[in-house]
Amino acid sequence: MKKIAVLTRDCSGVNAALRAVVRTADLYNIEVWGVIKEYEGLMKGEFMVMNRRSVSGIIDRGGTVLRTKRFEEFKTQNGQKEAVRQIQKNGIEGLIVIGGNGSLTGAHVLASRYGIPVIGVPATIDNDINGINLSIGADTAVNVAVEALDKIRDTAMSMERIFVVEVMGRDCGYIALRVALAGGCEEVLVPEMDVDIDKMCDEIAEGNRKGKVSWIVIVAEGRAKAADIAEEIRKKTGLETRIAVLGHIQRGGRPSARDRILGARLGNYALELLRNGETDKCVFLSENKLASIPLEMAVQPKKIDVEPFYRLIKILT
Ligand code: F6P
Repeated sequence: MKKIAVLTRDCSGVNAALRAVVRTADLYNIEVWGVIKEYEGLMKGEFMVMNRRSVSGIIDRGGTVLRTKRFEEFKTQNGQKEAVRQIQKNGIEGLIVIGGNGSLTGAHVLASRYGIPVIGVPATIDNDINGINLSIGADTAVNVAVEALDKIRDTAMSMERIFVVEVMGRDCGYIALRVALAGGCEEVLVPEMDVDIDKMCDEIAEGNRKGKVSWIVIVAEGRAKAADIAEEIRKKTGLETRIAVLGHIQRGGRPSARDRILGARLGNYALELLRNGETDKCVFLSENKLASIPLEMAVQPKKIDVEPFYRLIKILT
C-alpha cells in the first residue's frame, strides 16, 4: 500500500486520531492525503498531502484541521461515483474515515458497493455508534457540559430557580444521562424514555412546598426544547424558570486526555487494519483492547438501556 486518504468529521479528539494515522503511515512509507471538507472534498478532488510535520501541534486542538461539511450530494449515486472516480484517478488505495453515523454510512457505501478498502473510526459526541461503547469526542462533550452545569448551579441555588439545561446528542440520551449523574441533577429527559412531565411538575411543586428551592432538569435535544419544558414547569408549578442551551460548546474545545488517547489508539489501529488488507470495518476499544466490527453493524441504530442510569440519578437526587 503506497497511498491512502483520510476524511474527518469534527469533534474533540479527531485531530489526535488524524495525527496517529499520518504518523503510523509514515512508519510504513505510506503517503497520506487529507481530504478537505470530508465527502465534498472527496467528490471534488480537494486533497492536502500530509506528512509528520503537518500534524504537529494539533493533538490539543478541537475540531478538525481538515475542515468538514455535511454534504447531501454524496448520498446520491452520481456523487458516490464521482468520489470513486477521484479515488481511482489519484491512485488512492484505501480510506480511513473518522466520524459519526453519517460519515461511517458513507464509508460503508464506498466499501460495500464500490469495493474501496475503507476503515472507519467512530468520532461523535453523540456516542450513538452501534456496537461500540465509546466514540471519540463524547468524553470531552460530557466534561464541557458538566463544567457549564456547575456554573449554572451556582445561580440556581443562589437565586432559588429552576433551570432547564438542553444538551446535544441528536437522538441519543448519552450526554444527557452522564451530565445529569455527574452534575447531581434532579431530573433528566431523554429520547429513549418517556418521563411523565405532569408527574415531574407535581414532584417539583411538592418539593417546593417542603422547602426545596432549586432544581436542574437536563433535557436532551432529541427529546424536547428546553424552552418548552421550562414553560410547562412554570405554568404547572408557578415557579420561576430559566433555560440554558449548551449547543456547540460541547463539540469543540481542548480534547480531554481520554479522547486524545482514544484518538491515538484508534487512529493507529485503523491504519494497521487497512494496511493488513481489512476493509468495511469500524475500530473501537473493548475492555481496553483494540477491536473491530463490520461497518454494516456500526451504522445500525444503537439501542441503549437507559433505565439503570435513570434509576440511579433518581435515587441520588
Ligand atoms: O452529531 C453531532 C451533533 O453535534 C449532534 O449532537 C447535533 O444534533 C448535531 O451534530 C448538530 O449538527 P450541526 O452542527 O450540523 O448543526
